[in-house]
Amino acid sequence: MTDFAERIKKSSNLHKSRLVLALDPSQTKKNELLKFAKDAVNMLSGQISAIKINFHILLPLDLYSEVKSINDLAHSLDLQTIADIKLNDISNTNEVALSHLWSAGFDALTMNPFIGFDALKDAIANAHKNSNGVIALVYMSHKSAGDTYGLKVSDSKNGSKHMYELFLDWVDELKADGIVVGATLPQIIKQCSDRVKGRIAIFSPGVGVQGGDAEKALANGSDYLIVGRSILEAKDPKKEASKLQQLTWK
Ligand code: XMP
Repeated sequence: MTDFAERIKKSSNLHKSRLVLALDPSQTKKNELLKFAKDAVNMLSGQISAIKINFHILLPLDLYSEVKSINDLAHSLDLQTIADIKLNDISNTNEVALSHLWSAGFDALTMNPFIGFDALKDAIANAHKNSNGVIALVYMSHKSAGDTYGLKVSDSKNGSKHMYELFLDWVDELKADGIVVGATLPQIIKQCSDRVKGRIAIFSPGVGVQGGDAEKALANGSDYLIVGRSILEAKDPKKEASKLQQLTWK
């Protein structure tokens, strides 16, 4: 099996889209979640290259039957699937979590580099051994992200830099498959893109509801937009997804 970075490129080319659907139902009752998720994937498969599943679905549904069936559906439609769990634990626990995610059919997951270089290295090695991917948070999209990702840090090895710049150094060295940089931060997207363009894909959430501008994010170097509520809560989700799809595929 080819690796995640290649597979998501292939899906993007097939669907002419670099849009990742955040499959986040907000108000749906538990017994309607699976249908909601599958209906959304079926309806929007032509507009997207991947789906991203978060705790909205991972917590209430059964991983090995229900979540796996969403991943199987996505794969049957040539889409990649990303578990957005921002994994952040000791390597032993991460290995157990990764093993469950791979068995449930996920192609990649999001990870929080605050676990440190060695723990991130272990997780990336595990993902690559399984032909899957790690997308590491470099700078999150929400308002208080600067409280941590934007902190200035210094040590004798790295000198003085911002936390996100240190994370960028790590993911580059460790050959992560993707990084998350919020669409709300176009200048930081540009800085990251100048450093890793062509080697590590930049995924940007935060478009629309969180205030990020899709065109600005793409112009500054985002490779993929991650969008949930602006699509799923639109009057016409397919039309909204098509608009974003076209922006990602100029
Ligand atoms: P909306 O509805 O705001 O959904 O389009 C965005 C989705 O992405 C998640 N999210 C993030 N995930 N880093 C991440 O890894 C981020 O900075 C970030 N910001 C938002 C959010 O949980 C939702 O699933």
